[in-house]
Amino acid sequence: MKYELEEVWFPLSESIMEWDEDFHQLMLGDRLRMNAYKQAIQEVVKPGMIVLDLGTGTGILGLWALEAGAKYLYAIDVNENILSLAVQRFNQAGFSGKYEVFNALSYDVNLPERVDVIVSEILGNLADNEDFVPILQDARKRFLKKEGNMLPSSVYSQLVPVSSIKAHQQIKSKNIKSLNKNYSLERLLQQLAIQSQFNLYYDAILPKNTYLSKPLVVQEFKMEDGDRSTYETFLNFSVNADGIFTGFKGSFVATLSDTVILDISGCNIAAHTTSDCWKHCYLPVENPVKVKPGDEIHLLFSRYYPSKKDSPFRQCYQWSGTIRRHGNTFSTFHHKTGN
Ligand SMILES: C[S@@+](CC[C@H](N)C(=O)[O-])C[C@H]1O[C@@H](n2cnc3c(N)ncnc32)[C@H](O)[C@@H]1O
Repeated sequence: MKYELEEVWFPLSESIMEWDEDFHQLMLGDRLRMNAYKQAIQEVVKPGMIVLDLGTGTGILGLWALEAGAKYLYAIDVNENILSLAVQRFNQAGFSGKYEVFNALSYDVNLPERVDVIVSEILGNLADNEDFVPILQDARKRFLKKEGNMLPSSVYSQLVPVSSIKAHQQIKSKNIKSLNKNYSLERLLQQLAIQSQFNLYYDAILPKNTYLSKPLVVQEFKMEDGDRSTYETFLNFSVNADGIFTGFKGSFVATLSDTVILDISGCNIAAHTTSDCWKHCYLPVENPVKVKPGDEIHLLFSRYYPSKKDSPFRQCYQWSGTIRRHGNTFSTFHHKTGN
C-alpha cells in the first residue's frame, strides 16, 4: 500500500464494526506491527500454556501462539466473516482440536478456564481509540490466571503540536484518502453526527520536521484496574520552532514483552519505521495559527463516552486550548468528536 508523508487518510479506528478483509490484509502486511508482535509472542508464550487471543481477526497472533507451543488457544472476535478466516488459518496449519473460537464481543463470552496469557492488538493510533481499556480490564479480571501475563503489558499515548499546511488543506477540501469505498468520510461524519470535518481526527504520517515542540505523554496504561478510559489531561507545550500550528500528532508506544517495544511515532516510510495500518493520529484545528519559539500551546485533552452510545466502540475526544505569547492568549481552538 502506497502512502506519503502528510497525506490524510480515513480514521479507521472510528469504523471497527465495518472493517473488511482489505483492512485486515493491510494489518497483515504491516512490518512494524507484525515483526514486533511475532517476536513478543515467541518470547512470552511458553510450551504448554493456555492462551487467549482477544480480537483474533484473521488469527495471526493466535497462530503464532500455537506455533510457540501453546497447549490450547481461545480466540474471540465480534466479526463473523473475519473470524472464519482465523478458523481456516488454524486448521490449515494443523491445529484443529487445539483451539476454540467465539464469535461475540468479549464482554459476552465465558471461557471454560483461565488462561496464562492474553494476547491482543486492539490499539488505535492514539492508544485508546479502539476502547482497549475497559475491554482488557474485563478480560484480565474474568479470563487471566493470577500469575498470568498480558501482551501488551503497558502502553502510553503522546501528543505533539505540528505545522502541516498540507494536511490542513486536505481536510479543508475533504480530500481524504481511503482504503476502499467501504470507508467513506461523508458516511462517517453522518454516523457520528459531526458537522465540521475539523471535529474528527485522521490517520496521517506527520514527520519530525513538522513538530513545533517536544511530544508530551497523555496517558500511561499499565493493564491494571487503575487505567482510565475517561480522563481530562492538561498539557502545556513550549513552542521551539517557527511555523503555522495546524493541529496535533498523536501516537503510542507499547511494551509487548521484556525486549519488544512497539513505537508507531516513526516517520521513515521507506525504512518501515512507520506503521501502514495505524499511521499517526492527526487532530486538526480549523484555524491555523502562526507561532514562534517561546509561545505556549495550552491543551485540554479529554476522552469520554457519548451520551448516546450506539456502538460498542464509540468514544469521544475533545482537544481545546489557548495559544499564548508572553502570558497573553492570542488564539484559541476547540474541537470535539461528539457530545
Ligand atoms: C486490530 S484488529 C487485530 C486482528 C488480529 N489480532 C491481528 O493482529 O491481525 C482487532 C480485532 O479485534 C476485534 N475486536 C476488538 N475488540 C473486540 C472485543 N471486545 N470483542 C471481540 N472482538 C473484538 C475486531 O473485530 C478486530 O477484528
